[in-house]
Amino acid sequence: MTGELSPIDKAKFVAAKRAAEMVEDGMRVGLGTGSTAAWLVRCLGEMVQKDGLKITAVPTSSRTAALARDVGINVVSLDEAKWLDMTIDGADEFDADLNLIKGGGGAHLQEKIVATASDQMVVIADASKSVETLGAFPLPVEVLRFGWQSSQALIEETLVSMDVMGRSTTLRMNGEAPFVTDEGNYILDLHLNRIGNARQLALVLNQIPGVIENGLFIDICDTVVIGYGDGRVEVR
Ligand code: 5RP
Repeated sequence: MTGELSPIDKAKFVAAKRAAEMVEDGMRVGLGTGSTAAWLVRCLGEMVQKDGLKITAVPTSSRTAALARDVGINVVSLDEAKWLDMTIDGADEFDADLNLIKGGGGAHLQEKIVATASDQMVVIADASKSVETLGAFPLPVEVLRFGWQSSQALIEETLVSMDVMGRSTTLRMNGEAPFVTDEGNYILDLHLNRIGNARQLALVLNQIPGVIENGLFIDICDTVVIGYGDGRVEVR
């Protein structure tokens, strides 16, 4: 499955593999989205095929759903599963309190719903995702297409009133066209540099009309599994 991996892929793979080992027979598992989560799905697929592991999985995007089915994992909707034992997902940044920025892959809406419907959220990441203060990675905010420019203007006003360092916002593109999420919405990326009060920002952003969900995961993640390019793994 792995062949000769670059250090970054090795780091993602070893983190994913360690997290996959936390999954027990009979569990209902949320599957994240992104390149690290894809390693997890492949590891779990191998455990299902080779070791007879029995799990029910809820994917957080159409991409993950397709991959999970491809590798033989039993996929159901969150409404069918109702509650999950564990969600394992990647992240764009995590800090010492295990608060996160997610949504680099545009799936943070489903990811947040699935993670908060789980007994525990385990994040898998290479060490480059560890930060002292969140915000160097642009913060994704999913907005309704209707009136998205009005939502964008209100977000920018809010950033000024909150005295956030960076204030520019950009519409995420997919080539020439706006990027569209699985839910049919747009994503605004907020270039903030540093988020002083992530808890407050997460609450305030979600009050703005047209904002559906932001990529700040505050007090949601329980454990981070960090992979290194030399194959080491650290669990926090
Ligand atoms: C998708 C996400 C991803 O988990 C995040 O972008 C990390 O991706 P990768 O593992 O490819 O670095 O939040 O919405």
